[in-house]
Amino acid sequence: MMETPNVTSSLEGRIAVITGGASGIGEACARDLAARGAQVVVTDIDEPRAQTVAFSIPRAVAGRLDVTRPDDVEMVADWVEREYGPPAILVTSAGVLQPPLPPEDLPIETWDHVVAVDQRGVYLSCVAFGKRMALRGQGAIVNIASVAGLRSMPLHAYAPAKAAVIGMTRALAAEWGRSGVRVNAVAPGFVMTPALQAAVDDGQRDPAALAENSAMGRLVAPEEVARACSFLASDDASAITGITVPVDAGWLVAGSWHGYGGLRPARTGDVQG
Ligand SMILES: NC(=O)c1ccc[n+]([C@@H]2O[C@H](COP(=O)([O-])OP(=O)(O)OC[C@H]3O[C@@H](n4cnc5c(N)ncnc54)[C@H](O)[C@@H]3O)[C@@H](O)[C@H]2O)c1
Repeated sequence: MMETPNVTSSLEGRIAVITGGASGIGEACARDLAARGAQVVVTDIDEPRAQTVAFSIPRAVAGRLDVTRPDDVEMVADWVEREYGPPAILVTSAGVLQPPLPPEDLPIETWDHVVAVDQRGVYLSCVAFGKRMALRGQGAIVNIASVAGLRSMPLHAYAPAKAAVIGMTRALAAEWGRSGVRVNAVAPGFVMTPALQAAVDDGQRDPAALAENSAMGRLVAPEEVARACSFLASDDASAITGITVPVDAGWLVAGSWHGYGGLRPARTGDVQG
């Protein structure tokens, strides 16, 4: 006979580390994981902001972490374990956006920085926390990728770095699957966070066009991304590993409609019986 389903698995008693947790999607993930019972460790290169966020979340603590520095990442993994216990959950949200410049004009220093944070930083974080989880035989990692990793965009550092995050999510899921560590990713569409707002303010992104190009005709809220992350981090996703879940208000499925006159408007009128 089948067991009665446990419909909402709690994260009570689990320690969850978030990189880039001081802002935007990372902050929303910290709040959502904490609301489900996890004790969250909010890490960020911006320590004062990480402290402010942690201060407003019950039982949360904060720490400084620059994900581009291997020694920092190892030190923080040791510190969390020593002070609070072994992390069960890692969410890698530390990231930077980039201007949509042609490759001829994109300074290689910008390219290097974007790849250092968005690709290498995710890998370093996954390895530092994942290898400890693997030795303990349990853990869940959720990487924040992007729809940019699934389509071409005029973002010659950011989009390939996000494609690499999707690739490393698959490889690490296979690597640690038998050690009880699940590794998944979410690919957000366009989310109005401080990072996207700054790009809009600089004229680098058009929020109306980004919303219009999605099936649902809107942007995504940080909390909507966070809920998908919490699901993947929880036992509700106990057999799910190596996948990337788009949370994009249907941006990925809408683009190909342009050649057919675009998306049709919302239906109106009476429902026939
Ligand atoms: N906002 C969007 O539309 C969107 C869409 C898809 C994916 N994403 C991804 O979501 C993640 C979060 O982005 P966001 O929009 O919330 O941005 P955000 O700027 O609001 O938050 C990013 C956080 O990362 C931190 N950070 C930057 N460099 C760091 C480093 N070297 N070490 C540690 N922390 C560092 C920042 O201080 C900041 O607090 C990023 O990986 C981003 O690429 C964002």
